[in-house]
Amino acid sequence: MKKVKKAVIPVAGFGTRFLPATKSTPKEMMPLIDKPIIHYIVEEAINSGIETIIFVTGRHKRAIEDYFDYYPELEQVLLKTGKEEEVEIIRNISNMAEFVYIRQKEQLGLGHAVLTAKSLVGDEPFAVLLGDEIIKSDVPGIRQLIDIYYKFGKSVIGTMEVKREDVNKYGIVDGKEITEGIILVDKLVEKPSIEEAPSTKAIIGRYVLTPNIFEALEETPIGKGGELQLTDGLAKLREKEVIYAKNIDGFRHDTGNKVGYIEAIIDFALGRDDIKDSVKNIILQKCKEIEQS
Ligand code: G1P
Repeated sequence: MKKVKKAVIPVAGFGTRFLPATKSTPKEMMPLIDKPIIHYIVEEAINSGIETIIFVTGRHKRAIEDYFDYYPELEQVLLKTGKEEEVEIIRNISNMAEFVYIRQKEQLGLGHAVLTAKSLVGDEPFAVLLGDEIIKSDVPGIRQLIDIYYKFGKSVIGTMEVKREDVNKYGIVDGKEITEGIILVDKLVEKPSIEEAPSTKAIIGRYVLTPNIFEALEETPIGKGGELQLTDGLAKLREKEVIYAKNIDGFRHDTGNKVGYIEAIIDFALGRDDIKDSVKNIILQKCKEIEQS
């Protein structure tokens, strides 16, 4: 069985929910403490055995390319002031993996973004990680799906249970549980209404896909929002081969909305030995002030 060595990370979106911050800064570059969100996503992929990261970018995303490149001028300045540790930190970022970039010239949906990477992926299974979601877990989120891929050799979708009133924000899947926590998918619907939703099992931004997804996407009609939806492409793929889904173990931070982003910052700050006590005191103090007001 071929190894899962490549990951596609679509990063062409405008990030309109964070305007004006995202007018000139890609949303993926917004920091969680001192690392941009995209750094955590790339780390998850690398800690799962991925060697090549394929970014599907847009014309306003140059900062991502610069972030994963060397920066000799900065290294020189740091070296002159004896900051060897910082040099190591910024250099290691570029050495984490092989980074490849392809432009999605028009924003025609997630399915279209994945299809844009077709020639770079080739005839291999690959991972897809969406940049809005950070999964905090013992075993990296995408690794959990790759492990299932190695068992069955078919596509695997990462899911989580959501409240019924939230089904219209996600792709929803349903199917039969074949072993604990793993289902054989028989239905996939992109952002259904509460009435249409076959279950409350929502697709989160992690997938391991066979290369047959590309042909399926090419045959998929334009879907919700006038976009080529990956969920619809998966429904097409399922007509030809089986697909599995697994609830990912861990906590999913949705950094694509303001409250989720703040929650992620607090959670990561409280996990850091260097700042957790100060941050905890600030939160406690703020809570006290709210109670007294
Ligand atoms: C995309 C997918 C959807 C999935 C979601 C996870 O939607 O189309 O199926 O559930 O990501 O975050 P988006 O959030 O980009 O609208």
